[in-house]
Amino acid sequence: MQYGFTSKDIILLKPRQFIMPGLIDTHIHAPQYSFTGTGYDCHVVEWLDKYTFPTEAKFEDTNLALNVYKKLVRRLLMNGTTTASYFATLHYNATVVLCDVIVELGQRAYVGITDVDCSHHEHRKTTECCAKETERFIKHVIEMNHPLVTPVLTARGIAHCTKSLLTIHGELAKKYGVPIQGHLREIKDELASWNFASEFSQTSNLAKVHEECGLLTDKAYYAHCIYVTEEEIDLMLSHGTGVAHCPISNFDLKSGVAEIRHLLDQKLKVGLGTDVSGGHSPSMLDVIRQCITASNVVAFSKPESYRSLSYKDAFRLATLGGSEVLGLSDKIGNFEVGKEFDALLIDPDAEDSPFDCFDNDTLEDVIQKFLMLGDDRNILQVYVAGRPVAGRTLVSSYFSSK
Ligand code: GUN
Ligand code: FE
Repeated sequence: MQYGFTSKDIILLKPRQFIMPGLIDTHIHAPQYSFTGTGYDCHVVEWLDKYTFPTEAKFEDTNLALNVYKKLVRRLLMNGTTTASYFATLHYNATVVLCDVIVELGQRAYVGITDVDCSHHEHRKTTECCAKETERFIKHVIEMNHPLVTPVLTARGIAHCTKSLLTIHGELAKKYGVPIQGHLREIKDELASWNFASEFSQTSNLAKVHEECGLLTDKAYYAHCIYVTEEEIDLMLSHGTGVAHCPISNFDLKSGVAEIRHLLDQKLKVGLGTDVSGGHSPSMLDVIRQCITASNVVAFSKPESYRSLSYKDAFRLATLGGSEVLGLSDKIGNFEVGKEFDALLIDPDAEDSPFDCFDNDTLEDVIQKFLMLGDDRNILQVYVAGRPVAGRTLVSSYFSSK
């Protein structure tokens, strides 16, 4: 089925201005913002070694964390990301700093300590330390009792965690009823590609390992899923587990192209993610565009009857789809009565708009032009839970406090 707009998705104001739901980034690495836009000379495994692990290790320093996280959360808000699901680093203190910044700036967020207990790189902790600090972090966020911030169990991925740690995560997810995020099937030959041995090297069904560890639930969602098998799709579906589709990252790190139409046809929940800095852009509008491009690439090897994703499909994934993946579709994702007001006020005729509208443009043309060509210059106001938190009208305060 193709997705179509309804009055629950778009509220029309005076000629050409409209209100749309806030954008939902279901997968982003907060510390990686410090080097986003650089380092795309290699594939994922080498990129992690060369850029990611050395950079993330520096977030022991909470001053660095504060500086990077403030800039990131502001940048996301001004680009219309009202909700984000963050991987922080493995440092407890820096992850608490990220929560404080989010609260201060008013975004809705899921935040997790990125646990790694198995890596050839020194950027890792013992299994016991991961377990202890992650539980302490969950308790801390629960005690913060802030309506917009939720802790999320975040194991880096099957190649960087032992089964003991994954099992502890599964137990903590159950004990505290919190969501779970991770990476799944991002690269071909997932485990053979790493230059160190994983205890899962002989395993062909990686979703099954997650199931065994209690990490395949309806509160879990995994990034990429480019190389998921039909068996894995069925298993994820049976648990209501979601997918964070990260097309920009999949292109930039040369990982591959996910077949999202197929996952949607199989009825999996799918949202979109920037995967900064695997993906170079923090803007979900760019993700929408590359989601369409990725689907067109898939279509090249399909029969002519294949329906690649339209801009309306991509819009849905970036809004309602993301809310379903995060288990928040009763709260956000569109303007159904009773939901909270996470919204963007869009002005296609902003003075410095990067595109032009004409008299014969229909409302759908205008929306499509914004989604394909617009940027933060068109975003007049950003609301989270009804509160204005960013947008052109707040731009001067953004720059004066930078
Ligand atoms: N696999 C394990 N860690 C990462 C990461 O930080 N980014 C991406 N794209 N893939 C990963
Ligand atoms: Fe990622």
